[in-house]
This record gives sequence, C-alpha cells and structure tokens, in this order.
Amino acid sequence: MEKITRPQIKVAPPGPKAAAMIARDHAVTSPSYIKEYPLVVESGQGCFVIDVDGNSYLDFMAGIAVTSTGHAHPKVVKAVQDSAAKFLHICGTDFYYETMVSLCEKLSKSVPAMGATKVFLTNSGTEAVEGAIKLARHHTKRSKIIAFKGAFHGRTMGAITLNASKVTQKAHFGPLLPDVYHLPYSNPFHCAYKHEKNWCQTNCECANKIEDEWFTAHFAPSEVAAIFVEPIQGEGGYVMPAPKFLKDLRTLCDKHGIMLVFDEVQSGIGRTGQMFAAETLGVTPDIILSAKGIASGMPIGAIIAKTSVMTWGRGTHGSTYGGNPVCCAAANATIEIVEEKLPHIRKVGEFFIAELIKMQKKHPVIADVRGVGLMIGAEFIKKDGKPAMDYVGALEQLAFRKGLLLLSCGKSTIRFAPPLIITEDEIKTGLEILDQCLTELGTP
Ligand SMILES: Cc1ncc(COP(=O)(O)O)c(C=O)c1O
Repeated sequence: MEKITRPQIKVAPPGPKAAAMIARDHAVTSPSYIKEYPLVVESGQGCFVIDVDGNSYLDFMAGIAVTSTGHAHPKVVKAVQDSAAKFLHICGTDFYYETMVSLCEKLSKSVPAMGATKVFLTNSGTEAVEGAIKLARHHTKRSKIIAFKGAFHGRTMGAITLNASKVTQKAHFGPLLPDVYHLPYSNPFHCAYKHEKNWCQTNCECANKIEDEWFTAHFAPSEVAAIFVEPIQGEGGYVMPAPKFLKDLRTLCDKHGIMLVFDEVQSGIGRTGQMFAAETLGVTPDIILSAKGIASGMPIGAIIAKTSVMTWGRGTHGSTYGGNPVCCAAANATIEIVEEKLPHIRKVGEFFIAELIKMQKKHPVIADVRGVGLMIGAEFIKKDGKPAMDYVGALEQLAFRKGLLLLSCGKSTIRFAPPLIITEDEIKTGLEILDQCLTELGTP
C-alpha cells in the first residue's frame, strides 16, 4: 500500500459504499451505539484511516485513545499473526503461557515507585475497574468507595456506579452498587468550590474537604475501601487536576489505610509521556488500571497492584478470556514500541500544546488548553460564557468532512489523543484543518 502523508477526501463522506454499510448497520445493531459521525473504516496506516470509499483521514483520536502505536503497526501486526498461528486460547486463569508471563513482567515493572507489584489481566477497561472494586473491598474488608464528579470508569454495573459524567450511562440501570460516594474533582478551570480560575493550582481544597466534611459528618474513614480516581479525567473533559489534589489524596489514603486506585485506562501506556500518569504527575497509587492503548486495539486490560495489596486467594477472581495470548502478544509489542517513544511523546506533546495556545489567540472560542504528552484537551466556551456544546458537535462533523478525525469529551471539550507515533508535520496538518474549521464556524 502506498504511504499516506496527508488526508484526502475524494468523495464527500459518507460516500456510496459508506452509506450502504451504514444502512445495513442501522438495521441490525443496537441503538445504544453512539456513532459520532459516518466514518466507515476499510483500513488504517499509522496516523491515517482509510474509509470504504477511498477517503483518507488524519486521526487525532486513535479510536478513543487506543491505537497507541498507530493503525496496523507492522511489529504489532506480526506479533498478532505469529501468536495466532500458534494457539488462540488456553485460559490464563487456569494454565500458563509465555506471552502472559512476559506481559505481566513488563507491567509489574512499569511503575517503579510502586515497588513489588502483581498483575491480573482483563478483557477491557471496565472489567479492570470491576476487578479493582472487588480487590479493594476484599483486601481491606471495607465496603465504601469514593469516586469523583465527572468520572468515567466504564459500562458494567460497578463501573457505571462510579461514573458521574453523563446521566444516560446510569439512568434506569439501577439499583447500582451501594456505598459509592461522588465528591468534587479538582478542576482549576471550573472549581467546584467556586474559586477563581487557576486559584486551585496551588490551593486545591478537594481532598481536604473529604477529611473535613465527609469523614466528620457522613462516614468513618475506616469504612472506606478505596478512592477511585482518574489522574487526568478523560471522558469528563480531559481535566488536569491541581498537582496538590492527587498528592493530598495519597496522604489521606496513607493516613486511613484506604486504597488509592488510579484508573489509567485512558491516561496510561505512554499517553502522558511516561508509561503511566502516576509517574508524570509524581503520585504513586496502590492499584493502577490499564486498558485502551495497552495493545494498540486488541482487547485487553490490566489491574496492577502492590504485591502487599493483591492478597486475594486462589479462585477468588478469574476470567476465561482475560489475558488472551494473542492480545498479550500485541500488548508486549505495543509496550516495547511505546517505551522507546516516550521522549518523542513528550516532545511532540509540547509542540501540540504550544500550537493550540497560538490558535487560541486567533479563535477565542478556545477558552482553555490543557494536558500533558499527547493527552490534550481544548475547551470551547461561547461569548455568553456557556459551554459551546452544539459548536463542538458541529466542529467534529466539519473536521470529519475535511479529513480530520476529532472526538469530544466533557460538555464542550475536544480531546486530542492521536496515535503516540504522530509527527510534528502530521500535527501541523491536522491543526491547519482545525483552523479552517474554526474560521468557517465563526464565533458562537
Ligand atoms: C478512564 C476510563 N476507565 C475505564 C474505561 C472503560 O474502558 P472499556 O471501554 O475498555 O471498558 C474508559 C473508557 O473510555 C476510561 O476512559
């Protein structure tokens, strides 16, 4: 296949083949699927996606922060092919194989500050969250869990109980898990305690309020098994908390024997320029959850816990497919590639943020640019100070039609989570298209 270097729209999407596929899809697939825009994929190559009508798109969202090594990275594809040709399944819960051992070895060393760790492999992010709820409760013999407003942890029952970003994910699915409490997340751009913008960067009160308000009026800290937190909120709007927040949570957990669980399903595997945001942000949790970018798109996730915490006994938790050998092979190849790319991710991430900040001057609808590495958010606010929700929806659609794949999050934020191999030239190309779109859309 010829190397693609720029997006190219040959037929206005959805073209005839895409439209026909969408019609077939709509007849038989669950109406719960979101389907952001009519992209019907034929293949992928690096940072580009090719649709069934021959259009190529530059991918700034990596299939929701998943295709970390780009689409169809030859080393990952070969690892999958080689592994598939040997055996597809034997069940890692009950038997042994090398790809599973080597993946767990890699993951257990990925956050050195955690010291000795052990790993449980899952099929997805939500299953990692579910397993971590069980592990934290089982280890502490406590039931209560603290999660945060704006959080997203997945779609299974335990995970949706922890969610607090979109009501559609929870409405009419109850009763949900008991003993889960949602408290304000540190958001220096929209402080829950109404402090002015960025005051929280050095003064954040969110963790202290847990001690001062919740542990005095609502329940005892000795009843709390875990605090589940995304070290950078993903679906909630790519929110970078004040550095003090995570540090204070660590102190609180140490004081009261509470498990600090970092959900790094979105922020992990190199996205922030280190293997995990825990390292980037300098705070060490007791348990880290991973999935998404871990195997470039093959379905696998992981619970990485301090050995002193992963104390559950034989048969307490398992999974038929979790740690599937082919997925493990893809994950091993992915991690090797990402480890080498970490300095690159930090460098192009800084470039990306700097370019967005420049663009902010031209397009004041971009109210905030935040992030680290290639986990970057731009929040759009209207002149009247309200979130530019419709505008962001229109922006996604327009960018798609011009050959750029974007994805929103939160109320009115575009998340930039491209493959981690993206080059400065590709970033420039995508931002030129973004600039054209913003000029066309005008100021809301
Ligand atoms: C932080 C976080 N946790 C958990 C999940 C759920 O992962 P999955 O969709 O693989 O179940 C997601 C997915 O977006 C996520 O962003």
